[in-house]
Amino acid sequence: MNIDGKPYRTIFPDPDGVSVQVIDQTRLPFAFELKRLATLDDAAVAIRTMIVRGAPLIGVTAAYGLALAMRADPSMEGIDRAVAVLAATRPTAINLRWALDRVAGNLRQIQPAERFAHAFAEAGRVAEEDVASCRSIGAHGGQIIADLHTANGGRPVTVLTHCNAGWLATVDWGTALAPIYAAHERGVPVHVLVDETRPRSQGAALTAFELHGHGVPHTVIADNAGGHLMQHGGVDLCIVGSDRTTASGDVCNKIGTYLKALAAHDNRVPFYAALPFSTIDWTLHDGVKEIPIEERDGREVTHMTGRLAEGGFATIEVVSPGSPVANPAFDVTPARLVTGIITERGICAATEEGLYGLYPERRKAA
Ligand code: MRU
Repeated sequence: MNIDGKPYRTIFPDPDGVSVQVIDQTRLPFAFELKRLATLDDAAVAIRTMIVRGAPLIGVTAAYGLALAMRADPSMEGIDRAVAVLAATRPTAINLRWALDRVAGNLRQIQPAERFAHAFAEAGRVAEEDVASCRSIGAHGGQIIADLHTANGGRPVTVLTHCNAGWLATVDWGTALAPIYAAHERGVPVHVLVDETRPRSQGAALTAFELHGHGVPHTVIADNAGGHLMQHGGVDLCIVGSDRTTASGDVCNKIGTYLKALAAHDNRVPFYAALPFSTIDWTLHDGVKEIPIEERDGREVTHMTGRLAEGGFATIEVVSPGSPVANPAFDVTPARLVTGIITERGICAATEEGLYGLYPERRKAA
């Protein structure tokens, strides 16, 4: 997608051929900076500190991280160590584990001297496939928006989204935002309600930045406003991303997603999750009980960082000093609250039948 008219991806090989560049998302929306990742440690730190974030992008970064590790230590122990270090960076997004398994897959059968080149090329393929998946999610989901536009007599379609599941969360296009970009490009009038998404404000900082950059009409709302707007007919559709979706269709996503799904259900607003195959954890069937939820530093709740009116940046305390805080980063929306799942293969019910219908080869593997 474009930044100041120049097309970018969130991660791409550096011309030196032995490292990658990423957009530093901790600096957005006020500063656009690239960061070079040249080592395993660089990649692990980038994921852990959320220089890169979003489930698909975490996966692609881990894939490149494993490749970068092979430059320094292509031994069997080097593979195991790199996989362990990267897998421990963030626990909820299954794309991380999926990408590591994919790149590590046949690395052990390859001569050590060739492991870096092999893994780097494979990470590149993982990135390209992510772009293709997201583009396809956009085509399928864009049709839902176009149909709603026709059904509602031609007025703009208002879509509520939570967190950032746009191109910044993937390599390009995004998952939840891909249908919005596709509809926008087809000339379907769409207006996006952007949940600010405390505590890290991925909606206010990243989704708003993306949509603004692409010229998509949008309004940032406080996290607690969605239910009220749905009660008053102000939301036609919700689309969110996912960090891990079970084989039974339970959708894990950024904390607060579940509350929006409850409000959508109560107000008969369609609620979709958009995700690529790499987000589906076929081994799990009860998301609430089985998906590990990342608990992040309480400082994300007690403090906020922003730009000062007079220029420069400041981190300020916003919670009464001394009060304990909790910071679960994700929640699980049970399948019964999900209208449908938008994937690169099409749209299905949030059920085992629905998902296996789109991915019949997984039924054989299960
Ligand atoms: O903590 P983050 O910013 O990595 O969380 C991101 C989300 O929750 C996204 O909605 C999810 O990863 C889907 S991204 C296409």
